[in-house]
Amino acid sequence: MKALILVGGFGTRLRPLTLTLPKPLVEFCNKPMILHQIEGLVKAGVKDIVLAVNYRPEIMVELLKNYEEKYNVKITFSVETEPLGTAGPLALARDILDKDKTPFFVLNSDIICEFPFEQLRDFHKAHGNEGTIVVTKVEEPSKYGVIVNQTGSTLIERFVEKPVEFVSNKINAGIYIFNPEVLNRIELKPTSIETQVFPRMATESQLHLFDLEGFWMDVGQPKDFLTGTVLYLANLSKKQPQLLSNSAVYPYVLGNVLVDPTAKIGKDCRIGPNVTIGPNVVIGDGVRLQRCVILEGARIKDFAWVKNSIIGWHSTLGRWTRLEGVSVLGDDVSINDEVYVNGV
Ligand code: GDD
Ligand code: MG
Repeated sequence: MKALILVGGFGTRLRPLTLTLPKPLVEFCNKPMILHQIEGLVKAGVKDIVLAVNYRPEIMVELLKNYEEKYNVKITFSVETEPLGTAGPLALARDILDKDKTPFFVLNSDIICEFPFEQLRDFHKAHGNEGTIVVTKVEEPSKYGVIVNQTGSTLIERFVEKPVEFVSNKINAGIYIFNPEVLNRIELKPTSIETQVFPRMATESQLHLFDLEGFWMDVGQPKDFLTGTVLYLANLSKKQPQLLSNSAVYPYVLGNVLVDPTAKIGKDCRIGPNVTIGPNVVIGDGVRLQRCVILEGARIKDFAWVKNSIIGWHSTLGRWTRLEGVSVLGDDVSINDEVYVNGV
């Protein structure tokens, strides 16, 4: 099977991290976001992955070419000269997507869940129409694409992107499967799949929904990145608890904590719940971390206190600093000793 991942866009909502790396390469729970998706696709038997890129393709190519061999999958870069939106990239990759006349997956690159690709494929093949959208329920639907289905049916009646007034709490989770005929609806120019393609397919009764089970989050902005981390770690603790730090072995651990084996942790720390610590991070003595993400190579000096924040690669927090309120540090930022940082 084939898949296309939408990896364009400038990731402005995740700055300053995206000033250093494109959003799909920012590590979520110690793994580049896009690897979570590639692993899910590979597990479902996908052999051909197209990455639709328009922003700094060279960094992406360098990192991802390494994974072709590791995962035994062909990765093709489809590079846009101007941003083609969320549908235009399908037209650009038409030759690959259309080649064996079988359905293909499409996904946004900033979403995290237990990707149900195999069930989605079976469901899609069974109904026989052009497309299926994975849906989830959220309390605040206005920042997503919202879906209304026919009563008692999976057929989608309406698709409204980012509605101003309440329509429904079922939203587009950013995972689709399409028959190749969908390509006849899309021209090679900047086009939005959400506003220009889905509403039409819904009117023509060609679009179904597939209910997602379990957790889901769009991790494309700091607050949601932290919430997504909490959900992902909770799921790990149920499904693969051996990957989390065990508080029976490491007494400084509280709740769900993921630590790269190369990280160093000082004496008398209290870490957790809901913390991820990347490779080569150095944590001093008496440090208190909760609900936060510490990226590769960062250094947290003695008695620092961090909550609800993201510390970028190779940044340094001085002794007795306090950081909270969804603060995000980019690459190589230094905070002097004893400084208080809130919502920065
Ligand atoms: N190749 C390419 N070119 N990719 C793009 C472009 C482009 O011009 N513009 C955006 N993308 C990619 C982004 O990288 C992301 O993976 C995906 O398209 C969606 O863009 P976002 O900017 O993250 O959109 P959103 O989060 O506001 O809304 C979308 O996702 C929601 C679920 O998270 C929509 O699909 C909503 O309907 C959906 O509910
Ligand atoms: Mg998004």
